Amino acid sequence: MKNNSFLFSAKGICTAAFLSLNTIVYAQKTADISTISEKTLNTILEKNRAYYTQGKVADYIPELGKMDAKAIAFSVVDKNGKIFNTGDVSKKFTMQSISKIISLMVAVNEKGEAHIFDKMGYFGSDKPFNHFSNLETTGKPLNPMMNAGAILTTSLISGDGEKPFLKILDMVRYITKNQTIEYNKSVYESEKATGHRNRGMFYIMKNSGLISGNEDQLDNYFKQCSIELTAEDLAKIGYFFANQCVRFDGDAAYKNTDMAKLVESQMLTAGMYEFSGEYSRTVGLPSKSGVGGGITVSVPGKIGIGVFSPSLDQHGNSLAGYHMILDLAKQYGLSIF
Ligand code: DON
Repeated sequence: MKNNSFLFSAKGICTAAFLSLNTIVYAQKTADISTISEKTLNTILEKNRAYYTQGKVADYIPELGKMDAKAIAFSVVDKNGKIFNTGDVSKKFTMQSISKIISLMVAVNEKGEAHIFDKMGYFGSDKPFNHFSNLETTGKPLNPMMNAGAILTTSLISGDGEKPFLKILDMVRYITKNQTIEYNKSVYESEKATGHRNRGMFYIMKNSGLISGNEDQLDNYFKQCSIELTAEDLAKIGYFFANQCVRFDGDAAYKNTDMAKLVESQMLTAGMYEFSGEYSRTVGLPSKSGVGGGITVSVPGKIGIGVFSPSLDQHGNSLAGYHMILDLAKQYGLSIF
């Protein structure tokens, strides 16, 4: 953050606060959220487009390395379910770790929160997403947003073979009202062929009795990461959790205030991995990133945001995506704090 950067307060009260010896943050009048338009989004997108040159497309899964680093998209679903898109709106990418919020919802719906969190923690993340963290000490994953916790969460969804994955896919299709969503088989094969760290975590958890099934369960995790969608789909997912699990078109079949609180709290404390603390300070919104370059954001009780740009920072979060969200949050005073 630059020394002269502005932080906009929701109420537009003009006050100045000392953050540290070097950083003064000024509050300034913010724009009305109902004035968000495609033009607003486009201006922010163009301002941040060049960030892709400072990051790197993930290539630890070889298929992901084939993404076009220049692709960029920005979407918002407003309070009334109206959709605003700009950039490469039809560009598909894999949701990767963003799928972890959907598998968490499916597992908790099925087994209850106590059952799932008896086996893992609610801890925030201070380590990269693929860190073994507490597996060798307390024996339990830190949270369901890191790989270990997400692999375990998916293994707790009932059904043989790929049934648990199909439940996750169905939920993504429901939330986005997009039945054309599929998983990318080449990305899946690539994840399966190279996901040795994930396989290591799977077997440590099997060794400790947390996981009882076979590698089909790990394959379900690889498949959920390979689900392909657009920035608009991500904005709809963000909207869903922002609005008590009510879909953007008003369908309330899964309405559940407590589920939304659980998922949003995980997004806030662990959704951006070891960057989550700084992200909470700068953006202040429940968000979940994926190494495919997407980020979904929930503005509680209000809107959903979806961004895409595959060039990542050192934490595995989309660099231009982060800056687009940051600018929108500042301009409209969206931080929950
Ligand atoms: O397990 C993996 O390595 C990936 N399939 C998902 C990781 C991911 O998206 C981390 N997010 N930023």
